[in-house]
Formats: sequence, structure tokens, C-alpha cells
Amino acid sequence: MSEHKSVFEISEGSIAFGGNQALDSVSFSMVKGQLIGLIGPNGSGKTTLLNATSGIYPLNSGAISFEGNRIEKESPHRIARAGVARTFQIARIFPHMTAVENMLAPGFTVRDKETENRVSLIRRAKEYLDFLDIADFADEQAADLSGGQRMLLQFARALMLKPRLMLLDEPFGGIHPLLVERILERIRDLRDQGIDFIVVSHDLPTIMGLASRIVVLANGKVIADGTPEIVREDPGVIEAYLGV
Ligand SMILES: Nc1ncnc2c1ncn2[C@@H]1O[C@H](COP(=O)(O)OP(=O)(O)O)[C@@H](O)[C@H]1O
Ligand SMILES: [Mg+2]
Repeated sequence: MSEHKSVFEISEGSIAFGGNQALDSVSFSMVKGQLIGLIGPNGSGKTTLLNATSGIYPLNSGAISFEGNRIEKESPHRIARAGVARTFQIARIFPHMTAVENMLAPGFTVRDKETENRVSLIRRAKEYLDFLDIADFADEQAADLSGGQRMLLQFARALMLKPRLMLLDEPFGGIHPLLVERILERIRDLRDQGIDFIVVSHDLPTIMGLASRIVVLANGKVIADGTPEIVREDPGVIEAYLGV
């Protein structure tokens, strides 16, 4: 493959829930090194696109590829193992487990059977908690963490998969500005290490500052796709946001 290796591609992806066309023939592809901000009004299909990519709701038609391999019919577990990790809009953590136990929960962790035993896995979990600056909470019940800390925990846990593509659903929603800054810094750090991101956000100033490219959904369709500067001025995007 060329230098412009495709990391992610969705091609004519559609999903309907009953009569509601949540994704309507969505197509775009992403090359390595891009950081896509996925935006659009409430209900425009952003989470559905992440759900389709992570295997939670399969497409009714169309295709999704990760690093050139078709994944639209794969299970969430296989997609995660293949290197696609995600976080959820409302942190899906186990409240009655400690932070570190959440990190080790089956299905969220890939263990290299050759080289990793439980001790080294715990060490890796603690490194990621430290990377997100929540190592002090390692042995706290997840139920006792703030909303922002839960988001950081989800983010740390996603790293247990050693992902090459991370899908973040509203990582800045309703959390303290200092934690938003921390998440932004960590996304940039990971990007420097070669991890690609698709970040869903309705926080336009934040996502416009982070992403190299913005894809805009409205009513399940891509209505704009370009640099933040171009998308910001797009009349169709402004109209979609004003709900005209
Ligand atoms: N599991 C589901 N069952 C039924 N309808 C759904 C489901 N998930 C999403 N939808 C519908 O699909 C549309 C897109 O939703 P969603 O992807 O969550 O939007 P966004 O994340 O952009 O706010 C909405 O109309 C929503 O009500
Ligand atoms: Mg959503």
C-alpha cells in the first residue's frame, strides 16, 4: 500500500431503526495521521456511526474497513482485538469494581499471552492510569469517581487494547475544563505515537481546535467534510446547526 494508507473507510453505510434512517449512505475514508472530528446536531447519527464501526449495531448495507480489512460483519470483540477501541458518551464502567479492576475487565483488555502475565498486565493498567493522571484512584471504587474521572478511566481502559484507532464519543461532555485540557493533551500525545482518532463532539470550539479534518453529519448524511476553517463557514453546516 501507498504512504496514504487508509486507516478507516466507510462506504455507503446505512442503518435504519424502524423507519428512522440513522445512517443514510455515509461514505468517507481516513488516512493515517488525520484526526477526524465528527460533528452534527443531536440525533444526526454520530454515535450510530461509532456503534457500527465497533460492531455494536451492524450496518444494514454498505461496508466498513479498518486498515484495508472489512469489519462491518465482525463482532465487537474481534474489532476491539483487531485494534479499534472506543469510549462511550456515558462512561460504561463497572461501578462496584475499583478503577484498576475496571482496567482488567474481560473483553476490554488484550493480553499478549506470550509475554504478559497478570502481574505485568496490572503494571500496564497502572501505567495508563498514571498517563491519565488518575493513578491515585487505582484502588477506589469506580462509583466514587466524578463524571470526568470516569471518562478518564474509560480512556485509560481503551488503551489496554493497544489500539491503533480510537473512537471517542463526546469525551468532553459535561466534564471540568481542566480535565478537558488533560484529555486533549493525551489525545495529542497518543497521536504523536501513531494512534489515529475519530472524535465525536458537540463542543465546536474544542473539536475545531483539535481535529485536522471535520466530517459533519445531519439526518444520517455527510453534509460537509473538510478542514475546520472550511467547515466552519459552510452555509449548509450553519443551517443544520440552527435547525432551519
Ligand atoms: N438503538 C437505537 N434504537 C432506535 N433508534 C436509535 C438507536 N440508536 C440511535 N437511534 C436513533 O438514530 C438516530 C441517530 O442517533 P445517534 O447516532 O445516537 O445520534 P447522535 O449521536 O448524532 O446524537 C436518532 O434518531 C436516534 O433516535
Ligand atoms: Mg451521540
